Amino acid sequence: MVMNGKTRSFDWFGKNDKMGFVHRSWLRNQGYPDDYFRGKPVIGICNTWSELTPCNGHLRDFAEVVKRGVIEAGGFPLEFPVTSLGETIMRPTTMLFRNLASMDTEESIRANPLDGVVLLTGCDKTTPSTIMGACSVDLPTLVVPGGPMLNGRFRGECIGSGSFNWMVKEKILSENYTEADILEAEIGAARSQGHCMTMGTASTMACMAEALGLTLPGAAAIPAVDSRKKVLAQLSGRRIVEMVREDLRLSAILTREAFENAIVVNSAIGGSTNFVIHLLAIAGRIGVNLTLDDFDRIGSNIPMLVNLKPSGDYLMEDFYYAGGLPVVIRELKRFLHNDAITVNGKKIGENNSQSLCYNQEVISTADKPFKENAGIAVLRGNLCVDGAIIKPSAATEPLMKHRGRAVVFETIEDYHARIDDEQLDIDEHCIIVLKGAGPVGYPGMPEVGNVDLPGKLLKKGVRDMIRISDGRMSGTAGGTVILHVSPESSVGGLLALVKDGDMIELDVGNRRLHLDISAEEEARRRALWRAPEPMADRGYVKFYIDYVQQAHLGADLSILRGGSGSKVTRDLH
Ligand code: FES
Repeated sequence: MVMNGKTRSFDWFGKNDKMGFVHRSWLRNQGYPDDYFRGKPVIGICNTWSELTPCNGHLRDFAEVVKRGVIEAGGFPLEFPVTSLGETIMRPTTMLFRNLASMDTEESIRANPLDGVVLLTGCDKTTPSTIMGACSVDLPTLVVPGGPMLNGRFRGECIGSGSFNWMVKEKILSENYTEADILEAEIGAARSQGHCMTMGTASTMACMAEALGLTLPGAAAIPAVDSRKKVLAQLSGRRIVEMVREDLRLSAILTREAFENAIVVNSAIGGSTNFVIHLLAIAGRIGVNLTLDDFDRIGSNIPMLVNLKPSGDYLMEDFYYAGGLPVVIRELKRFLHNDAITVNGKKIGENNSQSLCYNQEVISTADKPFKENAGIAVLRGNLCVDGAIIKPSAATEPLMKHRGRAVVFETIEDYHARIDDEQLDIDEHCIIVLKGAGPVGYPGMPEVGNVDLPGKLLKKGVRDMIRISDGRMSGTAGGTVILHVSPESSVGGLLALVKDGDMIELDVGNRRLHLDISAEEEARRRALWRAPEPMADRGYVKFYIDYVQQAHLGADLSILRGGSGSKVTRDLH
């Protein structure tokens, strides 16, 4: 960021006084020459590397490659770590910490002498959290997605990381999988560095970043271990220095049009339902007025072009070889704002106009799509006054209009304790209702919405049932799963009052989710209802519970919406 001919970092390094000495001297213990402090753009490389975030385990090397590009372009790279969120490791859920990581990113950027930032991201939450934080500062910022793993392989078949694990219970019960089978499959599902190689949340977030214009063209699909990913990282290092010189900030790229483009692209790729909650949160930070209904209005009539698991057959490596997101963007040009500016300073339509498709099995044309009318459907009704969502492309068509008897679980522990009880009164026509999985109640809104079906029904061959919750679902999962019910049960949404045996009506075509209950009965139950005790009384979790917003607003903390810019008015002495 250059103001009045001076970089932001000049305010730290450019002064020949005591504070200039202090700011420069300690940094120089790393061996930087004098001229590094004389007006070179300082580029922060915000690294979400962590051995506890396996999907981002290669980002330490990537930072060195980005630095090469920054130095080539005349910048001064300084790498810094931020809170990293490992989806498969952290308890109770990384979503509880997305906002914490965003705060870390925001304050790390603002407090330091940075002129521009490269965000190194990968696993699910590491992309939205760092973008959210960066938005609240609004410096020139570019995203380098870490890339997916190579395709999973197991006994001659392609298996998707993140998707295969949802079948493990079924494999054990129906195909007599042994421990040895499972061990062989689990390493086969994780063959290289990188994030999940299905169109799960991490791949969705990488595509979101590219569709928003925050990456160089073609970045999202390149596998983590492909040498072309390092080329992209190096070019990104060069480009961020130019962005600083051009003062091309996030707010110039993240316009209303860019958000609408991201929604269109997400429909065409069959992206994760988590896209909704993260995009809402990012919009809230940069000041774009995006609502839940925008996702349905803009996205639900878009043809689905990409045939990737969990909605299709292929994996991210295939997507890259077929041409990746540039082909999708070119195919979608009649639905997109093609003039939206991206980080390379060019329009998104211009960037992708020459892309070629090398496999129409993987990326179809808009005229002959893989599926018609994909996207996210937003449901309304007394069960979800502020909305709920379903991903029709991952659901079972005959269940999309259904009236069924509720089988209710008050908490996830209640579900685990009873779901495989042979005496449980449930059949395939019932609707599984899970409470206590929302932002406040769990806390943190985990990916439990796609709960496994009862063992006895799996053994009978049942493969899908309607499930309703105030939680989320993994982007790698599928099924007729209604998520993000808002308001959540723990704050008194009608979901809290559902009882075993109630009848629920789902009509996705008419966007309706309704609990068949009389006003008198609802009033009687509400009078008896007591909010559950908060799950924490101190520390970050208490802070989160006190400030978190409901799902339809993106589950950001209310005090984090918006931004504070990049100015810091006081020095340290
Ligand atoms: Fe990290 Fe899937 S667990 S991307």
